[in-house]
Amino acid sequence: MRKKIVIANWKMNHDFYETTSFLRSFLRIIFEKKINHNKEIIIAPSFPFLHISNQILQGTILHVAAQNIHYMEKGSYTGEVSVSMLKSIGIQKVILGHSERREFFYEKNDILLKKIKIALKYGFHIIFCVGETDIERNKNQQFNVVKNQLKETVFHCSLNDIRSFYIAYEPIWAIGTGKTATFEQVQKMHQFIRSLFLEKYGINLSILYGGSINENNAKDFFLQKDIDGGLIGNSSLELEKFIKIVQS
Ligand code: 13P
Repeated sequence: MRKKIVIANWKMNHDFYETTSFLRSFLRIIFEKKINHNKEIIIAPSFPFLHISNQILQGTILHVAAQNIHYMEKGSYTGEVSVSMLKSIGIQKVILGHSERREFFYEKNDILLKKIKIALKYGFHIIFCVGETDIERNKNQQFNVVKNQLKETVFHCSLNDIRSFYIAYEPIWAIGTGKTATFEQVQKMHQFIRSLFLEKYGINLSILYGGSINENNAKDFFLQKDIDGGLIGNSSLELEKFIKIVQS
């Protein structure tokens, strides 16, 4: 089940021109540098550019993910995007539970569980994020916090559905702050998360780390035995940096 994965979460960055020129240049560089196929590379652009991104990347080793979905199939939810809309333009992956959605858009575990259910109903692959705040870590509550986030969401899923998940551990205090968790802190948490899934489902999932990964520290993170890849924010916006991370 475990694979090497790098995901670019562009958040609310890159307009149409920046998105399309990044992807075209990225494909050219991948071809020139013969970046091999033993890893999964996923790009998560903004909603308006998912369609064109998917068209550009069709038939290549790169995949596209949405950054969010609504939990209803359709209806009067002004400004929202449904999973069936995304499916109709060929999108099959989505990031859920990101701390920025939890913090700025008040997405609690019950909402996230609804989103998981609708995503699975439409056959989506889910990159599900968990992570503690600095206050929680200072109180040494990080393991309980993460376990609870999983217990109230992903752990409601069947064994069959679990195969559709990657888990991303993103300690909130390390996101966009330039403050990275130490390799040991991340390794310990990943080992813990892995053991929870092994215990409950007997499945060895891919677990990614996210939080101020850059082209200089990526390799050391990826060398840790329970880190299968990265969910990259800021450093995925610049092509050169992102290529170096992918090569790591
Ligand atoms: P940064 O890499 O900017 O810290 O963001 C991490 C993240 O939130 C990826 O989803």
